[in-house]
Amino acid sequence: MRVGVLTGGGDCPGLNAVIRAIVRQAERVYGDEVIGFLDAWDGVLARKTMPLTVETMRGTLPRGGTVLGTKRGSPFDTEGGPEEVAATIADLGLDAIIVIGGNGSLTVACRLHEQYGLPIVGVPKTIDNDIVGTDVTFGFHTAVQIATDAIDRLHTTAESHDRVMVVEVMGRHSGWIATYAGIAGGATMVLIPEIPFDIDEVCRRLSARHERNRFASIVVVAEGAEPVPGTLEVEERTYDRFGHVLLGGISEVIAREIAARTGFETRVVMLGHIQRGGTPTAYDRVLCTRFGVAAMDLVHAEGWGQMVVARGNEIVPAPLSVMVGKTKRVDPELYKVASVFFA
Ligand code: F6P
Repeated sequence: MRVGVLTGGGDCPGLNAVIRAIVRQAERVYGDEVIGFLDAWDGVLARKTMPLTVETMRGTLPRGGTVLGTKRGSPFDTEGGPEEVAATIADLGLDAIIVIGGNGSLTVACRLHEQYGLPIVGVPKTIDNDIVGTDVTFGFHTAVQIATDAIDRLHTTAESHDRVMVVEVMGRHSGWIATYAGIAGGATMVLIPEIPFDIDEVCRRLSARHERNRFASIVVVAEGAEPVPGTLEVEERTYDRFGHVLLGGISEVIAREIAARTGFETRVVMLGHIQRGGTPTAYDRVLCTRFGVAAMDLVHAEGWGQMVVARGNEIVPAPLSVMVGKTKRVDPELYKVASVFFA
């Protein structure tokens, strides 16, 4: 077979590890040929490709980013875009395309399969861990580790200065990174998009903690966290050209309010894209390798319109359609565990 691969959406630790495993399984087990499309769907439309071989992928297992480059955007945004994708597949003699992407790219993959019958399989990627249908996405574990390492460091400086540290982590629609890193890092409070926060309650808990002579606190905030309507003024949201809400900054508002209402010295740390950069953890390298091998197997099973997912200890196929239009929210039971340790 001849198989095309692309990486779409925001980058994520482990993309190269997935590509490497696809290529290894393709070349060494099936005797297949793999080509990579550069810069996601742009590369498919413009036919910008590079050969992917065991040799060219050597040394990439621990490397962050993606050797293929990535971009947001969809062929459905361009007049005749989906037809052009079909033409690329035909003209390059491809039997399949493997799309390694998040909610956006996998939704595009699903539509291309359902509406145009294209032979596509998916691999779920995002540090946010918010894709429905899989227990976990690759990159999430690495982001949690990065955030936890940062929180560990912030504890000692917070204790030295008797400060409140407000740590903002990624998570536009779901608070998986915040909840996991909050539990792992021993946070005083965790604020997530799924549960609107009450700033009075946050300040009350921090004050109660001070009364018990605990003068240093770590408040972990997911970037998509929102106050209970009408309780706190936040700036109007802005959007990028793909309609994604531009976040980052809720921690500033929260820190300002904490300082003003309690008088406690408060500082903000925004981890931002540090959470997406650099080498994947060992756990993610294993998950990526399993996903990549399984994706090639799925291609040979002609599992078009499906993605590989993690269920318990297994990697299995699931229809792409299960994730379209949905967001996997933080499990309330998990949040309950985090909240046992609040203030
Ligand atoms: O990968 C998902 C995500 O990490 C979100 O949590 C975040 O809001 C977004 O990407 C930011 O991505 P970019 O700055 O690349 O648009």
